[in-house]
Amino acid sequence: MISLLVDYWRFIIGCISYLTHWFGVKCPSEARIEGKVVIITGSNRTLGKETALELARRGAGKIVLACRDLEAAKLVAQEIQSETGNLNIVPMYCDLSSFRLIKQFVDDFISTNDRLDILINNAGISNGSTQRKATIDGYEEHIQINHLGPLYLINLLKPLLIKSSISCPSRIIFVTSSAHRCMLRFNIDNLNSTSFYHPSICYCKSKLAAELISTHLAPKLIEKNVTINTLCPGGVYTDLFTRYPTVDRYSSILCPILQSLLRTPKMGSQTIVYCAVEPSLDSVTGKHFMDCRQTLASSLARDKNLAEKTYQLSINLIKKSVNQF
Ligand SMILES: NC(=O)c1ccc[n+]([C@@H]2O[C@H](COP(=O)([O-])OP(=O)(O)OC[C@H]3O[C@@H](n4cnc5c(N)ncnc54)[C@H](OP(=O)(O)O)[C@@H]3O)[C@@H](O)[C@H]2O)c1
Repeated sequence: MISLLVDYWRFIIGCISYLTHWFGVKCPSEARIEGKVVIITGSNRTLGKETALELARRGAGKIVLACRDLEAAKLVAQEIQSETGNLNIVPMYCDLSSFRLIKQFVDDFISTNDRLDILINNAGISNGSTQRKATIDGYEEHIQINHLGPLYLINLLKPLLIKSSISCPSRIIFVTSSAHRCMLRFNIDNLNSTSFYHPSICYCKSKLAAELISTHLAPKLIEKNVTINTLCPGGVYTDLFTRYPTVDRYSSILCPILQSLLRTPKMGSQTIVYCAVEPSLDSVTGKHFMDCRQTLASSLARDKNLAEKTYQLSINLIKKSVNQF
């Protein structure tokens, strides 16, 4: 009961800070990441793009823009190259809504790269659709793109992250959301939203599931010198909002209001950059960040038993669709 009240209270605080861009902080770390190889999913626009731009400025050895819109990613790569002088920006095709395409991306990446230092799971959707949409693999869109796809990506890239972690821990950074706090209960049997569907609940559920994966994997990965942390970028004015059907319908009224209330993508990217570059986070794992500070994820997200169950169920769902895990 007390933990439920604490969660409600944290949720209210989360909502207030979520809606005010004034609470955003600039990344306090000046650290550079000379020579590091980074993958950022969904980096053809907004938060992912701003993160790539800043990491390029900080000397990354290679940044792979893992995107489903390859043409947009090519343009972004050129833009970052000319703005930062860092020429090691590589667009690659990666669609998280298909396990086959994720595997194809990883095969392509491994055939041309022998290391990976930082994996940033940034791509995500909030489609606002009143009809449950399924991916080609048959899973509800939010759960596959925001949770199952990134989990499969982590598992396929794990050997390379471990191999690259000899001198310094490799990092997995999961862009989740304070929206995970909206889940006050988690019906794991309905992970795929077959018995009940609501788009906002699907989004929150997918972010809670991603938090739980981090809770489950953190103690296992740290033994191999790999860290995994999650973060909320705050409320950011991005296409996540502007493409939401209700906002889209009343865009002339809602967009200016949202734009004035929410953070810019550059401000939103600060915590992602912080989690990627800050040297004191080398051995920090299984933690949640917001505004470049460690904070507690919801008590549900930190529940180890639930984390184990969610991980096992998610693995089983992926295994149903793929031959190699
Ligand atoms: N904006 C916020 O206030 C906020 C708050 C909390 C958390 N977040 C999280 O921050 C992350 C970035 O969101 P954003 O606000 O920058 O949203 P956004 O502007 O909508 O960008 C989302 C990115 O994910 C990509 N993506 C979507 N589906 C994909 C798929 N199937 N395969 C590969 N890439 C895909 C998009 O690519 P396309 O261009 O091809 O669609 C785009 O590059 C998300 O995980 C989101 O949940 C955002």
